[in-house]
Amino acid sequence: MPLTEEKRKALEKLEFREGLEGLTPARIITLFRRAPLLRAVDDPQRVWQMYENASLVLTVWYEGQLAGIARVLTDGVLHSYLCDLAVEPDVQRLGVGRALVEALLERCKGTELVLRDSDISSGFYERMGFRRVENAWMRAAK
Ligand SMILES: CC(C)(COP(=O)(O)OP(=O)(O)OC[C@H]1O[C@@H](n2cnc3c(N)ncnc32)[C@H](O)[C@@H]1OP(=O)(O)O)[C@@H](O)C(=O)NCCC(=O)NCCS
Repeated sequence: MPLTEEKRKALEKLEFREGLEGLTPARIITLFRRAPLLRAVDDPQRVWQMYENASLVLTVWYEGQLAGIARVLTDGVLHSYLCDLAVEPDVQRLGVGRALVEALLERCKGTELVLRDSDISSGFYERMGFRRVENAWMRAAK
């Protein structure tokens, strides 16, 4: 897709941050709803805990607004789990998701990064060099 002048300018204004600076539960919930990323976000306190307890949180900002987010749980040695990657629709397909994943991969170097995808995002992970695995098991939360 050719980059419009408007989108190129938007891209130049993006600011990447590590950590919780500027984040609030409300901002996270709004981004999840807009992306859309289907998560149980009706309890702001639980949403905040998801980020406080993460090993690593990366965010992207556009003119003071939260435009992208990703977090990782990692032991720093073997295993890392990428959770809840979301990019604001106005800046999707501009390389923001790629930049977030590449930054996370860099910070989790040496570990295996796993994640759960969705029908709409599987093509993205394929483009990012992830491989679908058949040997994963999951037990739903009770
Ligand atoms: C999936 C998502 C994070 C991608 O972010 P993005 O900033 O739009 O992605 P990028 O622009 O960095 O794309 C990187 C590459 O993946 C491709 N891509 C992006 N989304 C894609 C999709 N849904 N299907 C196939 N390819 C996709 C891009 O074309 C680009 O390809 P290129 O390397 O050939 O240029 C974003 O669309 C999103 O937030 N979706 C809703 C929430 C979601 O599904 N999150 C994942 C949870 S599992």
